[in-house]
Amino acid sequence: MNRGKLITFEGGDGSGKTTQLSLTVDALKAQGKDVLQTFEPGDSPLGKELRHLLLSGEYIPAAQTELLLFLADRAQHVQTVIRPALDAGKWVVCDRYTDSTLAYQLAGRKLEDNQQLRDMLKWAECGVSPDMTIWLDLSVQDAALRMASRQTGGEVANRLDNEKTAFHQSVYQAFDNIQRENTERVKRINAKQGIQAVQIDIQALLQNL
Ligand code: TMP
Repeated sequence: MNRGKLITFEGGDGSGKTTQLSLTVDALKAQGKDVLQTFEPGDSPLGKELRHLLLSGEYIPAAQTELLLFLADRAQHVQTVIRPALDAGKWVVCDRYTDSTLAYQLAGRKLEDNQQLRDMLKWAECGVSPDMTIWLDLSVQDAALRMASRQTGGEVANRLDNEKTAFHQSVYQAFDNIQRENTERVKRINAKQGIQAVQIDIQALLQNL
């Protein structure tokens, strides 16, 4: 059996990532593909506990602890969810992956971006890297407006959503750099467009896989 493909979605909070990911999964299924939709952090039994530790706001981890917990979640997710699905020939569509750790922990938390940390991030992937990454590019200002209206609508922000604007600026800048450094793998989509227009762009990219 052919190994499946791993497609990851990245972007700041409020970029419409979750909506676009679901639409993409529906479209792939409509093409007859066997698809697994998943997310990080938290889509395994152990990961669910790690997500609570990381995002509930009950704990304020040190930057190093935060990084290690996200990597722990990833290793568990790859070993128990992502790799078995890929080996079974499925297309795996994952909401966030290693690029989020680069953006939020290394850039956002200002951990030193050295080879040792890069190697650790790679190691936690257990040999599984994305075939394509879709970055939904939305400015920090536009994302903040969307987040504010969502919260008025009753949605609860997680601990990282509530970080200051400077943090979100660093995250944005990091995604921008990641895209420029990995143009083959990481595709930029203008997330300011309407939902349908964004989805059309994503579909066009997926044709190349
Ligand atoms: P989300 O489920 O709404 O995307 O929230 C997940 C949060 O976790 C989001 O604020 C980004 C953050 N995150 C990191 O900081 N590092 C990571 O490696 C991952 C996967 C997510």
